[in-house]
Formats: sequence, C-alpha cells, structure tokens
Amino acid sequence: MAAQDQAEQDRLREEIERLRKEKNALIMAHYYQRDEIQEIADFIGDSLALARKAAETDADIIVMCGVHFMGETAKILCPDKKVLVPDLKAGCSLADSCDPEEFAAFVAEHPDHTVISYVNTSAAVKAHTDIVVTSGNARKIVESLPADEKIIFGPDHNLGEYINSVTGRNMLLWNGACHVHDRFSLEKIVEMKREHPGAKVLVHPECRRPLQLIADKVGSTAALLDFARTDEAQEFIVVTESGILFEMRNKCPEKTFLAAPAEDAECQCNECDYMKMNTLRKVYEALRDERPEIEVDAEIAKKAIRPIERMLELSK
Ligand code: 13P
Ligand code: SF4
Repeated sequence: MAAQDQAEQDRLREEIERLRKEKNALIMAHYYQRDEIQEIADFIGDSLALARKAAETDADIIVMCGVHFMGETAKILCPDKKVLVPDLKAGCSLADSCDPEEFAAFVAEHPDHTVISYVNTSAAVKAHTDIVVTSGNARKIVESLPADEKIIFGPDHNLGEYINSVTGRNMLLWNGACHVHDRFSLEKIVEMKREHPGAKVLVHPECRRPLQLIADKVGSTAALLDFARTDEAQEFIVVTESGILFEMRNKCPEKTFLAAPAEDAECQCNECDYMKMNTLRKVYEALRDERPEIEVDAEIAKKAIRPIERMLELSK
C-alpha cells in the first residue's frame, strides 16, 4: 500500500476508534467483509453469531458491516437502537431471488406446511415465515420438528438440498441461489485437489450438490473456521467467499488456505460484490453521521420478529 493510502487508513482507524467510544457503538462484521473492516470490528461472526450478538448488546448504535438483511435482522431484534449499514446498497443476490409476494403465494398454496426461511431474506419474506434458520443451525432446527412435518424451505435451493440429504426430510424447496456460491467450479476444485492431495476441501452449503459431495466438511462460515482450526490437516481448499481467509489465516497462521476459483473467474478467488461495498471510509462516515440507518416497516417487523426469535430459542 502506498504511504499516502496507509496514512489515510491509519487516520480512519483512529477516528473510528474515537467515535465508537464516544457514541457507545458496536461494530460488527461478517467474515466476508474486507480485511481492514474485520481488523477494526468489535465482533466478527457468521450470520447466526451476528444475530445473537445484536440481540444481547447494550450498545446505543450497531454498525452492521455486512449486507442489508443482516442490518434488518439486527433492527428487528433491537427496534430502539440505531442500526447502521455503511453502504445500504449492499444487498444479497440470494435474498433478491425470493420476491415476498411470490413467496407469499407459494406459502398460500401449501397451507399445511411449516415455513422455514434462511436468514438471507428480506424482512417481508420473514414476515411469511414460521422459523428463520441460518446455515449454522438449519439442520438442528429441521431435526427438532416432527419427522412427518411438511416443510417449505426457502430461498436457497442448494442449502435446502443439503439439509434434505442430512436429515432424510423431503422439504419443498424454493429455487433461489447465491451468485457467489452457485458459481464455484467443480472441475477447477478437483484439479486443485489433484495438485494438493493433502488439502481438505471446505464447502459452504450454499454451493451446488456435487461440491457438497466432494467436501471434507460442509458448514456455515463459523463451522468451516472451526474445522480448519481443530483438524489436523495443514492445507485447505476453501469453497466459500474468499473474505473468510482473513480470519482463517489469523486463527491458524501455520496452515495454508487456498481460495477456490469460480467457473468464470480469472483470479484465484470468489468475492461477493455486495459484501465488499462496505469500506473503512464508509464505516467512519456512518459512525460520524449516524447514517445510513436501517428502517423496517413496523407491521412487517412485528411479524418478522416471531420466526427470528423462534430461531434463537431453538438454536440455544
Ligand atoms: P453464514 O455466515 O451464515 O455461513 O452465511 C454465509 C453467507 O452467505 C452470508 O451471506
Ligand atoms: Fe448474499 Fe451470496 Fe453475498 Fe452471502 S455471499 S451476502 S448469500 S450474495
């Protein structure tokens, strides 16, 4: 980094530090955030950990360095707090693959089904949901329901297939996908595995089924991190958004982590453009100006909080 850029980053870090104390703010970051944001965050986690932390914090301001649905979930859980997302345009292609009206119509066609939605959805979709799940607790929550319970699962089709396969259920799946996880290349990963035969393959369940089948571990970002930390292997091929490599390398500096490429990628990584919209400067400006703030319609929030609270209860 050029000396001038470094000086600017140092200045932003100092200002963020000062503002966070002055305003009793909590800075949370998802594992896919830029390295420099993960570095200054008070708390880093997967979607489940971020929701849990939001539910228990006594901070006055939450700066959610993640995407829009993560800010919405925090706001629904903490309606009296100011919840800021440094760039409100940080959306999610998976959440976008589930239109609330179409989802409501799908639910209405199956009135005898329990509706389970992945946390990667808008508050409006959550309002039509019985239980929210994340990739970190989906299996446990599905298994907590009676074996003959009819279930709708949306929007991630790959995660739904994975949960069906490990629980033996036959959930009705919405056909949504994440543009990052759905475009990993099986061929390129098999090729990488040939070049690194000792490497273990870590796969997020939002990836397609063939990738799940060749994985040594399928799990949420936190579960993959935990596996990398505790497993005896020294080398890992990481098949999820490459931001997670920052924390993997932090936690296990002696191990080697190789980012898996996408089908069409020139480079050796696969990034979520939405997650990368937040920058250190935008975090600073959000804290300074206390905006952009997440707002959730009161009627929608009233309905959406029930399935989120049910998730937190069931995943204790
Ligand atoms: P987790 O952090 O729950 O594994 O989710 C991954 C993801 O894609 C978040 O957008
Ligand atoms: Fe959404 Fe995929 Fe980005 Fe996660 S990685 S925020 S699921 S688009």
